[in-house]
Amino acid sequence: MSEPTIESILQEKRSFQPPQEFSQKAHIKSLEDYQQLYDQAKANPQKFWADLAQQELHWFQKWDTVMDWQPPFAKWFVGGKINISYNCLDRHLITWRRNKAALIWEGEPGDSRTLTYAQLHREVCQMANVFKQLGVQKGDRVGIYMPMIPEAAIAMLACARIGAAHTVIFGGFSAEALKDRLVDAAAKLVVTADGGWRKEAIVPLKEQVDKSLANNGAPTVENVLVVERTKQGIQMEPGRDHWWHDLQTGASADCPAEPMDAEDMLFILYTSGTTGKPKGVVHTTAGYNLYTHMTLKWAFDIQDTDVYWCTADVGWITGHSYIVYGPLSNGATTLMYEGAPRASNPGCFWDVVEKYGVNIFYTAPTAIRAFIKMGEEHPKARNLSSLRLLGTVGEPINPEAWMWYHRVIGGERCPIVDTWWQTETGGFMITPLPGATPTKPGSATRPFPGIIAEVVDLEGNPVADNQGGYLVVKHPWPGMLRTVYGNPERFRRTYWEHIPPKDGQYLYFAGDGARKDEDGYFWVMGRVDDVINVAGHRLGTMEVESALVSHAAVAEAAVVGKPDEVKGEEVCAFVTLEGSYSASEELKKELKQHVVKEIGAIARPGEIRFTEAMPKTRSGKIMRRLLRNLASGQEIAGDTSTLEDRSVLDKLRGGS
Ligand code: WTA
Repeated sequence: MSEPTIESILQEKRSFQPPQEFSQKAHIKSLEDYQQLYDQAKANPQKFWADLAQQELHWFQKWDTVMDWQPPFAKWFVGGKINISYNCLDRHLITWRRNKAALIWEGEPGDSRTLTYAQLHREVCQMANVFKQLGVQKGDRVGIYMPMIPEAAIAMLACARIGAAHTVIFGGFSAEALKDRLVDAAAKLVVTADGGWRKEAIVPLKEQVDKSLANNGAPTVENVLVVERTKQGIQMEPGRDHWWHDLQTGASADCPAEPMDAEDMLFILYTSGTTGKPKGVVHTTAGYNLYTHMTLKWAFDIQDTDVYWCTADVGWITGHSYIVYGPLSNGATTLMYEGAPRASNPGCFWDVVEKYGVNIFYTAPTAIRAFIKMGEEHPKARNLSSLRLLGTVGEPINPEAWMWYHRVIGGERCPIVDTWWQTETGGFMITPLPGATPTKPGSATRPFPGIIAEVVDLEGNPVADNQGGYLVVKHPWPGMLRTVYGNPERFRRTYWEHIPPKDGQYLYFAGDGARKDEDGYFWVMGRVDDVINVAGHRLGTMEVESALVSHAAVAEAAVVGKPDEVKGEEVCAFVTLEGSYSASEELKKELKQHVVKEIGAIARPGEIRFTEAMPKTRSGKIMRRLLRNLASGQEIAGDTSTLEDRSVLDKLRGGS
């Protein structure tokens, strides 16, 4: 199994029609219905989104202007007042959904909890009051560094309720990475847990928080709120650290949702880019609420009877949009699972599907490829007949993995929605609507209504059908990022100037390569910048290089992606050493560990190769293309004439 290549997917001719029974009950029932919505949205995007905003969301006050577009800065529903926690909770309480399960949670050790909409509302209100008591005000930032437990969602919604922006930091990030993000966001409060369960071991989250705050590491942080989860015993600093359960006891459950401006910041989420430190992607309130609501409703065909499970972590955008906000805004039942598939429990996901009768299941190609390796006997031994729809996200899915998902998990009856989107886009951009769109294995199919996507060359000209090019989006959409936190110039440069505006038309540059086939279907090929995608997680090669060179032994480092059967790609690092150090297996181990310390386990290099020199151009740029060839064991391809010293190639081939 390998990443799809242009050659392999050009040969992919299989196509699957939406099952008739599915279409009949779906929100969007036919290709004609999709086409009609698509055409309406294209002809008058503002009317399209405004009508939906009116129908689907609760507003404290209606907007004056649907869209204000000062390229590349967009505002949506200007003048409107809204609160996403109200839309996710309060409005359901006055309906029959009051006692419907909002959140079903399954812990890794087998403990579980279900919160109805009324119960979730109560806990969110209590925590919102606790946050206020700890001095958090509208406009402040709160860091959330949590395991996959209901309190993570409660903390997010509590922030939204009082108008504080959250920044969720994935629990797998190291203390260093956590510190960087808390500092950049100038967070006032950190919400964490004593620890989290990960593959039967404890992740010491609070200990990492302590390290990040030591020596005044993140000086804006005034308080730390700690959920008791693993009970392994931790240090609590008097005055700064508080137990969640202590403050919850006695907190009032009365906390009306703050009417927020449509464009008030809802959250910052850090993601990797081509250069420098991870950037804080900013999402605002109303547009994000509408966009996650509509995309989940139509692409996942959410119905009131569904149990919906997205296996992502809340530390990533998928968890934000499609575990918490999208499902709850729709009044759906969302399932949250603390565990992860592992060799010692290869059937754990399917046990959860069976236990709760999951109807809609959303995961990443990496997980699917891992399941393929574990063997089909595990899903086959469980009753998966409740499933009616499957989704995938995070990286291109190879047709073989798609077919396996379709056959073994979906029993050949469940449509598969391959959703292409990004942290920056807030929600799905290119995706089938399962009752309407025929699917092709490996293609994310066609854009969501309201999204004008194109494949272009570097000048912004559309390329011919089936030609590779850059994936861009032409018109602003409600869920788009508004800026990079504290760095509007970086926002402009990264997303809007890479392909220069043409005739006043700004193109959002996604960073992905793609092609469009003769049916208008998009085939996303993967990143074209210095971002690699390891097991569906975005990593900047520069980030890993900076981590490596911060080790005393390393003179220079160059990081590239290397194809991996399960993870899609893994980190391969080429390293030159400082004079007094010599290459050894121990040093390789030490450097890998160093990267884990600096960033987190997701960035651990799969391979480190010591080399005497790097292949550079005469202007001193490392030729990563050559390193990529070497890492994947291919012959050096393409032009090498700009190489400064050709003997470097032989040295690299012989590297250890
Ligand atoms: C990749 C995750 C192919 C892509 C939601 C994108 C995909 C990056 C798909 C964003 C897909 C995501 N097919 N590639 N269905 N979905 N990607 O910000 O390279 O963590 O640019 O958001 O993942 O990753 P991010």
